[in-house]
Amino acid sequence: MARAPRARSKPAGPLAPTDRVRVFDTTLRDGEQAPGAGLTAAEKLEVARQLMRLKVDVIEAGFPAASNGDFEAVNRIARETKGGIAVAALARCRDGDPQRAIEAIKVAERPHLHVFIATSDIHLKHKLRIDRETALAEAVRWVAYGRQQLGRDVEIEFSAEDASRTDPEFLLKVYEAVVEAGASTINIPDTVGYAIPSEFAALVGRAVALLGSQATISVHCHNDLGLATANTLAAVQAGARQVEVTINGLGERAGNASLEEVVMALRTRPTQFPDLASGVQTEHLTAASRLVSYLTGFAIQPNKAVVGGNAFAHESGIHQDGVIKNPLTYEIMTPQSVGLTGSSITIGKLSGRRGLANKLADLGYTLEGDALDAVYRQAMDLADEKKDVTDDDLIALVEQRVSEVPQAVRLEGWNVTSSHGGKATGMVALTVGGEDHAKAAIGNGPVDALFEAVDAAVEPVFGWHPVLQTYEIKAVSGGEDAQGRVLVRCRRSNDAGPGALIVSGHGLSTNIIEASIEAYLVAVNKLHGATGSAASAFVATRTAELP
Ligand code: KIV
Ligand code: ZN
Repeated sequence: MARAPRARSKPAGPLAPTDRVRVFDTTLRDGEQAPGAGLTAAEKLEVARQLMRLKVDVIEAGFPAASNGDFEAVNRIARETKGGIAVAALARCRDGDPQRAIEAIKVAERPHLHVFIATSDIHLKHKLRIDRETALAEAVRWVAYGRQQLGRDVEIEFSAEDASRTDPEFLLKVYEAVVEAGASTINIPDTVGYAIPSEFAALVGRAVALLGSQATISVHCHNDLGLATANTLAAVQAGARQVEVTINGLGERAGNASLEEVVMALRTRPTQFPDLASGVQTEHLTAASRLVSYLTGFAIQPNKAVVGGNAFAHESGIHQDGVIKNPLTYEIMTPQSVGLTGSSITIGKLSGRRGLANKLADLGYTLEGDALDAVYRQAMDLADEKKDVTDDDLIALVEQRVSEVPQAVRLEGWNVTSSHGGKATGMVALTVGGEDHAKAAIGNGPVDALFEAVDAAVEPVFGWHPVLQTYEIKAVSGGEDAQGRVLVRCRRSNDAGPGALIVSGHGLSTNIIEASIEAYLVAVNKLHGATGSAASAFVATRTAELP
């Protein structure tokens, strides 16, 4: 039975407005924990900029104690994020983590400290090897520490990991204690995606009845049973006022509740969520989804709700007929509301910069200055090579720019010979750290031969060579003259095992061999960047090593 809320003078930290659902995006933290989804610091910043355009309320930028790279990335995002958007950093309830998180976010316009500890018996016994009372004491200790360091007005969130499998009486006792110690948001994670909407709503309802007047009640749902969005929405109906979500539902295992699904459900069914809305500018959803998919290399399934390629496609005659007569017959939301525009501007050899900028804006990308000039030059080159420069071609050019990395290894030239039934011979000319290196190698095909030649050129300089994990190629658009986009994932030859750093690299060209070698060199440069002192953030693989 729910206890009556205890009277308190004034809750610490800002409470979420009661007529709005606060959207806490964790693509850059939980999303990045998806195996193989590691992003560089520059890529994380690019995603953060897109989240700012979306106007989420909180960007969880990372886990600063996980690596220096992630600390740097969180700190850069904290410096750059403005417009009332909070920047959150995650920390375990253990000495060192909260200090590092606070250090990373204290420059933010709105810092948001997020501390967590597991509370379920299974986690306490087998993972942390501590008892309930110790977990409670650690939770209180680090929430109080955060409050004392950050002052009265900063958001301090506490998460009870595996809350949905925790004894509810103990869970509420922990939440009550951390609110007393200064937590302004209490988060209820369904860490392993175990909850069912009705039971989860009942748990959330108990927390709301007990603490809703003193803290914002938040939920964080994983998708192991495909119920993350349903559980999140049931929680909102039960009084939760913060939802933790990721773009494309990216995240550990089966992922997290998807931002676009939750936000569009709130927008599309207002009578189910009376007087509640999110502040998200949904017209930027498609661009955000494409960017995250591109940078992580995680394709979006065609039938994915809201952002899948088929989400607004109608194949059957009956449906097409209905949609032509009135789109409302089969569409519950408009393509425009999620940023899918059928723009009439086309780009060709005679187009100007302004025309391109407008076209890109229609597609959800704001480019100006040098960035616009670079894409303009590439678009004009492409217009020489192929008949039509399509929307997909332009998006691919913008995305390729986003994943540019500092080039310790540069391609100067390549050559390959390959014939039916025989081995291929490839030669690459590279500059590695400013010096020329040319190598030739034999492979079972042209791409293999060139990758072998790159390996032979970089190994003597770096002491490792890239090891290819996956290779994918696809045409950006239709037609024989289409650009090919290659995605590779690689690790270093001296870094193996489950914690190995795996990076992705993209290449884009009308010549698929050129695209392949370009992708391989992006991966080499990322791997190189991640070993130096200015190491990029690859928290996904590194957090796997944390106890
Ligand atoms: O799934 C989970 O429990 C988490 C917490 C750290 C919030 O990601
Ligand atoms: Zn999670």
